[in-house]
Amino acid sequence: MRVLELARRRKTVRQFLPDKPPKEDILKAIEAAKEAPSGMNAQPWKFVVIDDDWLKGRIGELCEAEEEKFYAKTKGDLMTWLNAKGFKPEKSFLSEAPYLILVFGHTKAPYWLQSTWIAVGYLLLALEELGLGTVTYTPPNPKPIEELLKVSPEYKLQTILPVGYPADPKPKYGRRKLEEVVSFNEF
Ligand SMILES: Cc1cc2nc3c(=O)[nH]c(=O)nc-3n(C[C@H](O)[C@H](O)[C@H](O)COP(=O)(O)O)c2cc1C
Repeated sequence: MRVLELARRRKTVRQFLPDKPPKEDILKAIEAAKEAPSGMNAQPWKFVVIDDDWLKGRIGELCEAEEEKFYAKTKGDLMTWLNAKGFKPEKSFLSEAPYLILVFGHTKAPYWLQSTWIAVGYLLLALEELGLGTVTYTPPNPKPIEELLKVSPEYKLQTILPVGYPADPKPKYGRRKLEEVVSFNEF
């Protein structure tokens, strides 16, 4: 499928069917992600796939505990937006999705942040092509998860992608028009 079609079709998915997609599909998507370009070709990414129920549950608990703290201190526009969208500290997608893909970046590599997130973009489109849904979940404090998984201190958790067959009725949100986001020869 053409990239434009995939990009237009992809939407964030926070609800999943209980059926477990084949492990091969998860690996196929990560295979696409690791083809991403990176600063000095350092390939600073690491993908940790979690399908163990206990670990998924524990990661969910740790994230929700940090979300509680985050919601307690958040005010202003962000809180208004979160309320309007119905977001809460509960993140049931973390235990409901058959897989979690945790994406880490190697902080000592050049351009590690930019490179890791380009790989995340590739991963999102590859999952879409395979008929899998996900949400780019960014935990407010990744430290407890890094400790749980005994992550090397040089790596930082960037996102947790819960992955499964989509069951989310939420429509895709609108995007700005092409002419609003692009210009030639001037800003
Ligand atoms: C960098 C980044 C961080 C995000 N963090 C979260 C998050 O922590 N929780 C969440 O539910 N969605 C998160 N999202 C998903 C966005 O809310 C979503 O992509 C956006 O609202 C557009 O929705 P759509 O993709 O369905 O059109 C994040 C997306 C990106 C790219």
